[in-house]
Amino acid sequence: MGEVIISKHPLVRHKQTFLRSVQTDPPAFRALVRELAQLLFFEAATDLRLEEHTVRTPLTDYPGQMIAERVGLLPILRAGLGMAEAVLDLLPGAQVWHLGLYRDHETLRPVTYYNKLPPVPTIDRAVVLDPMLASGGSAIAAIEILKNWGMKRIQFLGLIAAPEGVEALHTAHPDVAIYLAAVDEFLNDQCYIVPGLGDAGDRQFGTGG
Ligand code: URA
Repeated sequence: MGEVIISKHPLVRHKQTFLRSVQTDPPAFRALVRELAQLLFFEAATDLRLEEHTVRTPLTDYPGQMIAERVGLLPILRAGLGMAEAVLDLLPGAQVWHLGLYRDHETLRPVTYYNKLPPVPTIDRAVVLDPMLASGGSAIAAIEILKNWGMKRIQFLGLIAAPEGVEALHTAHPDVAIYLAAVDEFLNDQCYIVPGLGDAGDRQFGTGG
C-alpha cells in the first residue's frame, strides 16, 4: 500500500512558506522549487537499491556501494520541469520522460498530446513530479499510462496538495506512495489550491502577467 508522506522537516516547512509568498519573484521561486524537490526526493529515495562497488582510495581498497536502480522522472508539464531538473542534479543517471496532458472541456478526461516514453520500460522506478496536486486528474492519468506501459514501482512527488487531490490519487492508485511538503485546506471552484501559491507554472516561468 502506498503511503501519503507529508514532510515535517523544518527546512521544508521554512522553504514552502517563502514559496507561497506573493513577494517571491520567479528566480527565488525557481530556487525554492528546486530545493524543496531535492529535500522531498531525499526522503523518497531512502529505499533505493544499492550494489557493492569497491573503489581504490590513495591508501587501500574501500568496499563501497552504488545505486543499482534505474530511475525515470516524469514531470507533469509544465510546472513539473523545475522539479525534474532538481532531482536530476542529485541523480544524474536518471532518465527524464515527457508526457503532455490536457483536460478535454467536454469529456473532462485528460488527453495525451505528447508522449515521449520509450516503447518498453527501461527503468525500475518511476517518479511522477508535479508541484501542485490539485484535483489529481493529471497525476492519475499519467500513472495510468505508466502502469499500462508496464511500470510497477511508482512514486509521486509534489509540493502542495489539496485534500481532494490526495484522496483522488490515493483511491485511484493506492499502491503509489505520495510525498508532499504540505496538504492545504481546499480546492476552489477554479481548481486553485487554497491557500496555495497561485499558478506554479506562471510563478516559475514569469508568465503570470
Ligand atoms: N495548479 C497550480 O499551478 N496551482 C493550483 O493552485 C492548482 C493547480
